[in-house]
Amino acid sequence: MNMEITIAKNAGFCFGVKRAADTVSSLIETSKKGTKIYTLGKLIHNDIYNAELKSRGVDVISIDDLDGVCAMTDENSPSVIVIRTHGIRRDIEEKLRGAENRNPYLKIVDCTCPYVKKIHRIAKENSSADTLFLLLGDRDHPEVDGIVSYAGGEVKVFASADELFGYFEGKNIQKRIIMAAQTTQKLSEWEKCQKNIKKLCTNGLIFDTICSVTEDRQTEVEKMAREMDAMIVIGGRNSSNTAKLYAICQKYCAKSIWVESVEEIPSDFCTPHIHNVGIAAGASTPSGIIQEVYKTMKEQVMNENFAELLESSLKTLNTGDTVKGIVTAISTNEVQLDLGAKVTGVITAEQLTDDPSVKLKDIVKVGDEIEAFVIRVSDLDGVAMLSKRRTDSDKNWNNIVAAKESGEILEGKIIEAVKGGVVILVDAVRVFVPASQTGVARDGDLTTLVGTTQRVRIMDIKPQAHRAYASIRSVLVEERKAREEAVWSTIEVGMKFTGKVKSITNYGAFVDLGGVDGMVHTSELSWKRIKNPSEVVSVGDEITVTVKELDTEKKRISLTYKSEENDPWYIFSNKYSVGDTASVKIVSMMPFGAFAEIVDGVDGLIHISQIAQKRIANPSDVLEIGQVVDVKIVEVDNDRRKVNLSITALLEPAAEEVAAEEADAE
Ligand code: F3S
Repeated sequence: MNMEITIAKNAGFCFGVKRAADTVSSLIETSKKGTKIYTLGKLIHNDIYNAELKSRGVDVISIDDLDGVCAMTDENSPSVIVIRTHGIRRDIEEKLRGAENRNPYLKIVDCTCPYVKKIHRIAKENSSADTLFLLLGDRDHPEVDGIVSYAGGEVKVFASADELFGYFEGKNIQKRIIMAAQTTQKLSEWEKCQKNIKKLCTNGLIFDTICSVTEDRQTEVEKMAREMDAMIVIGGRNSSNTAKLYAICQKYCAKSIWVESVEEIPSDFCTPHIHNVGIAAGASTPSGIIQEVYKTMKEQVMNENFAELLESSLKTLNTGDTVKGIVTAISTNEVQLDLGAKVTGVITAEQLTDDPSVKLKDIVKVGDEIEAFVIRVSDLDGVAMLSKRRTDSDKNWNNIVAAKESGEILEGKIIEAVKGGVVILVDAVRVFVPASQTGVARDGDLTTLVGTTQRVRIMDIKPQAHRAYASIRSVLVEERKAREEAVWSTIEVGMKFTGKVKSITNYGAFVDLGGVDGMVHTSELSWKRIKNPSEVVSVGDEITVTVKELDTEKKRISLTYKSEENDPWYIFSNKYSVGDTASVKIVSMMPFGAFAEIVDGVDGLIHISQIAQKRIANPSDVLEIGQVVDVKIVEVDNDRRKVNLSITALLEPAAEEVAAEEADAE
């Protein structure tokens, strides 16, 4: 049988799903022993993949399970909750972040696709009481549920252009129209909606939010379906984007089937008059399942497998090809690869990485698979000169473009300070950060950033020149705002915080509570009277404080450093009772007696009559400041916090008193 089988270029995991799957894999591999990983809902719409995650110890939970998870999370059993690509409702996110703030061993990892995040932002920033937010989407889909939670004012979700038209019929809508679409909607339906809405109102704001991955996938599949004799669409039954692909295939190719795995392909699917079959797959379909379908079809029909094809494609190499090879040797200046061809692949250090400070053996190891661009082939030397940087740069440039589009925050290492800014290496792409966007103060030293890892937002790109401009400052500002919001959403009077003293003024000390600063007034720093905060704390000290008052409008937090444990009266009461003996230090004298320090912050009075057995005119006849004497605690007034002490109570009775007592006895 002569049959061509073609896999769509855009089949399988999209950028957002791959990012989520890679994140969970990395959490499984790198999390501390004992860490429990959960996903909030099934990570992707593919039961085969989800079952594999389950077998690796990852459990699916719902928001109702949050309290139970928190109760089981402690130092020995930390937990991570992963938010899937669809995103979640605003109130649920706040609930999760609140739990994360309360429990230091609970971590929330947000894998919401940046394209979905972008729609959250659009809904949040553009809707208000005066707007009508229209969303083309499936109202039962979790992505739609999440998006509408960010919109203020009136919201209408509609499933088709006809439904949209029907909604407007006979109505005179005065509100400003904002319109967007769920990321996986059909492009043709969206175009119809745009046309309709433009006829109905002229001042609407329309946001093209169908994800470019979905767009490309649908365009490619439509083209394939028109040309192929048969189409196989692979994907989970509840995957929205797979359903759309199948609908397109059915429209243009009569023999189309939708399967979740190879086992579901009917044995009589390949008939003699089918000469070409196209394979398409939804964004949640793992590549292993696609390859399995392809391989099985190929083996059945042509008795030839995918591995052989791959091998034969590597037999001859040409300049400009992209090849994969296995690292066989690493030296200081180059890496050698087995390409499965008669020539050996060589990548020099500068074609491997952009970072000259890095050692090759720290970034690759023997056995690694590397994809690289063929610069030159010399059969004579038996060597193919390759460039990984070129392949990375092409691949990663697309990520930079996507990040610019979606506003996703990227991470990289600052590799050099140049005139007017610094260069950050993001996924092997050099990105320029202007000095004003570095977060370093004007006239500050930009070289202090070199070698540090920073998070950036791509602000602008020049596609032709592959140039990108980014901002660290924008991320810092946003993160600070998020931290502030997190603190303000949970803070209550009476809550305790441990934070560093950031600064000191004459009237108090400012403490960093992890996002916002609170102030401890001088009178709240100590139970004793102090003149300056520096008598109690220094900048950089870590102290535990309690929230005393909150002013949510002025965003002011008043704190106190005083607590029962450091209350001198509490310390005194725990240590001494009436009748106890104590060694005390004379601290001041008055005509009626002397004051002595019992514990730091609590002084007691030794009345003049209790200083000596004989009558004295003045306490200073017997005592002096600084002298340490033994006393008996004779009276404690807890309400007024007063203590009376006596020296004489510890002395032998005077001779005349003894004589009088003896006379009484006789
Ligand atoms: Fe995938 Fe994100 Fe698009 S999850 S389909 S890249 S919206």
